[in-house]
Amino acid sequence: MRQFLSILAVLLAAASVAGAQSQSSAAPAAVVDNCRTCHAQLDDRLGEPAKQFVDDIHSTRGITCASCHGGDPREEDMEKSMSRAKGFRGVPKRSEIPQLCAKCHSDGAFMRAYNPSLRTDQLSQYQTSVHGKRLAAGDTRVAVCSDCHGIHKIRPASSPISSVYPQQIPNTCGRCHADAGHMKAYKIPTDQLLNYQASVHYEKLQGGDLAAPTCVTCHGNHGATPPGVSSVERVCGTCHVFQEQLFDQSPHKAVWAAKKIPSCLTCHGNHAIKHTSDAMIGTGKDSFCMTCHVAGDPGGKTAGQISAALTGLDQSLAEAGAVLDSAEQKGMEVGEARVTFSTAHEKLIKARVDLHTMNSARVEETTKAGEKLAQQVNQDGVQALAEYTFRRKGLALSLVAIAFVVICLWLLIRNLERPSAGEEAGHSGAS
Ligand code: HEC
Ligand code: HEC
Ligand code: HEC
Ligand code: HEC
Ligand code: HEC
Ligand code: HEC
Ligand code: HEC
Ligand code: HEC
Ligand code: HEC
Repeated sequence: MRQFLSILAVLLAAASVAGAQSQSSAAPAAVVDNCRTCHAQLDDRLGEPAKQFVDDIHSTRGITCASCHGGDPREEDMEKSMSRAKGFRGVPKRSEIPQLCAKCHSDGAFMRAYNPSLRTDQLSQYQTSVHGKRLAAGDTRVAVCSDCHGIHKIRPASSPISSVYPQQIPNTCGRCHADAGHMKAYKIPTDQLLNYQASVHYEKLQGGDLAAPTCVTCHGNHGATPPGVSSVERVCGTCHVFQEQLFDQSPHKAVWAAKKIPSCLTCHGNHAIKHTSDAMIGTGKDSFCMTCHVAGDPGGKTAGQISAALTGLDQSLAEAGAVLDSAEQKGMEVGEARVTFSTAHEKLIKARVDLHTMNSARVEETTKAGEKLAQQVNQDGVQALAEYTFRRKGLALSLVAIAFVVICLWLLIRNLERPSAGEEAGHSGAS
């Protein structure tokens, strides 16, 4: 038994050596990179970079430690490979990092050879951002390329585990912006991450909807604001196109611009944007309008009218819906009325967008069309219910009729089956 085991062990060892040999002969001659080989054997801050670098996008493209740190990777000797004479520059200072990355990333000719679709404007964009401007002024607490992308485990932006993948971005920015200690020197709040995480946008993002904005959709990734947006304040309209167009038609547009009151943010906020409701307009405590208007002024009156129009249609739809449900539960066919119902409901949705004109007549025009449809649905539903009752009555009547016929038949049969008096007597006599 013991002999058998040792033979087996020898065989296994031979097989693994053969495997390793065939592997190394199949692989292309590896580039000599003594930086990596030596650092992979070191611990902690000297070893980590080499271990992380294995899956880094740069590593997979053949870029080496020396591409960023300088030195000579062919030299096995530590002194010689990391010699200043060979261009070794050690650990770059934070202030030098953008230039270091841009050495390649701003070089169109160089980058095209790897990936022609990659932009090469990151540095020039970065220099227009608050981060870039402050860095140029000597503030090293701002974000540099490696704060957002990592250093030795950089992934393509399209990789879900990249620190700049949409769902990872909030935490990437929050690492500084939610850290009160780091941001102590500045006069800005540190609640953006927390507020954003309470928003409808974050909720959608977490649900997998990559159309929802993250920090960089609104603030830009490298530049100060996203392309085509004059200021962060105007960013909402890039997605919510109709609301912006209608806001621009509202009486607020000119007055607020003159008073430097921002548009969408004044009502909805910027980071903690919540689901909307009809309670946000009107004269109640949740109304946006009452922060500036009072119930009696022109704005307050409009708020009341729009609110009444919306809640009126909402109520009518609820009633019509209940009638339809009840008819459907009773097995009535209400398909057509359902279609009309959706059209009426779309009017309510449209009215909620229309209110951005702050024009009650405009909203009422839409809600009235909705009311008419809702009434139609209600009538159809009531009719269906009436028909149901009618059919029930008809059914009851026919049941009575059937019962009557059955009883008659039964009586008839009984009569037919009943033996005549003489027959019966003869029968009993026989037994
Ligand atoms: C034979 C081993 C060995 C080789 C080869 C080697 N290093 Fe190092 N490296 C070390 C050790 C040990 C240290 C820490 C001691 C020191 O800083 O001198 C270090 C430090 C560093 C540091 C940190 C310096 C600092 O100031 O903290 C960087 C960056 C670095 N090496 C990059 C490289 C690069 C790039 C190459 C190849 C061109 C390379 N190393 C080749 C062993 C090696
Ligand atoms: C894309 C450029 C780039 C490449 C490639 C790169 N590094 Fe670095 N490395 C940096 C930057 C930037 C820093 C400084 C980060 C910081 O601000 O702390 C750094 C820091 C280091 C440090 C110091 C770590 C510390 O915590 O003090 C070591 C050691 C190091 N790199 C080794 C390596 C080794 C070994 C390789 C190859 C396996 C490598 N680097 C590849 C950019 C690079
Ligand atoms: C020696 C040249 C060089 C340097 C220096 C360099 N890069 Fe790169 N980088 C590349 C190349 C080449 C690619 C691969 C492009 C490709 O094939 O898609 C790349 C890819 C990337 C990507 C992935 C792009 C994408 O989404 O597909 C990011 C992010 C990136 N680099 C960031 C950095 C950062 C941050 C630094 C500085 C710490 C840096 N790079 C330094 C050459 C370089
Ligand atoms: C404040 C964070 C931040 C900083 C600082 C930053 N980036 Fe980016 N970068 C991003 C984000 C986020 C993306 C992903 C694109 C997107 O979703 O908008 C990105 C994408 C990239 C890409 C992929 C191609 C592209 O442009 O979309 C490259 C390459 C890149 N960055 C390089 C750099 C370089 C080089 C620097 C420094 C000059 C830098 N980044 C600084 C956040 C940052
Ligand atoms: C390394 C830390 C760090 C990271 C990471 C970082 N920032 Fe910053 N950011 C700062 C500092 C510091 C300031 C300067 C604050 C100031 O001047 O008011 C700043 C300023 C800003 C400003 C201007 C604020 C103002 O003054 O109005 C915006 C907007 C901003 N960052 C957005 C982002 C976004 C978006 C991300 C992520 C993609 C991000 N930052 C990542 C540190 C960071
Ligand atoms: C839907 C768009 C949007 C998103 C998403 C967003 N912001 Fe903002 N952010 C704004 C607007 C608008 C302002 C206000 C600008 C102004 O008042 O000039 C702002 C202001 C800021 C400021 C300046 C200080 C302050 O609080 O007023 C910082 C810093 C900031 N945002 C960081 C972030 C970070 C970090 C994230 C992600 C966690 C984020 N933002 C997500 C739109 C957005
Ligand atoms: C990148 C596109 C984008 C940007 C920019 C954007 N949003 Fe959104 N927003 C969405 C998406 C997607 C949803 C979720 C789907 C929906 O309900 O329309 C949403 C939902 C909303 C809702 C909630 C609707 C509800 O009740 O469910 C409001 C309010 C809102 N956004 C306001 C804003 C404001 C204000 C801004 C600017 C500060 C803004 N959005 C910027 C894409 C965007
Ligand atoms: C004067 C306050 C006010 C301003 C300014 C405002 N909104 Fe609204 N918004 C509302 C109210 C109130 C609702 C809720 C409608 C409802 O549910 O009855 C709403 C609803 C929304 C919704 C939810 C979807 C919908 O239409 O039902 C979105 C998205 C939205 N607004 C985006 C914006 C954008 C983008 C801007 C800037 C162009 C903006 N809002 C400006 C008051 C405002
Ligand atoms: C940030 C303050 C603010 C908020 C919030 C606000 N308004 Fe106004 N509104 C104004 C100002 C300022 C004017 C200019 C006339 C004035 O001073 O009353 C105005 C004017 C109006 C007008 C034109 C009145 C006229 O004299 O013709 C209407 C209508 C109006 N607002 C409706 C609304 C409604 C509805 C809401 C809520 C959805 C609302 N406003 C929210 C500040 C605000």
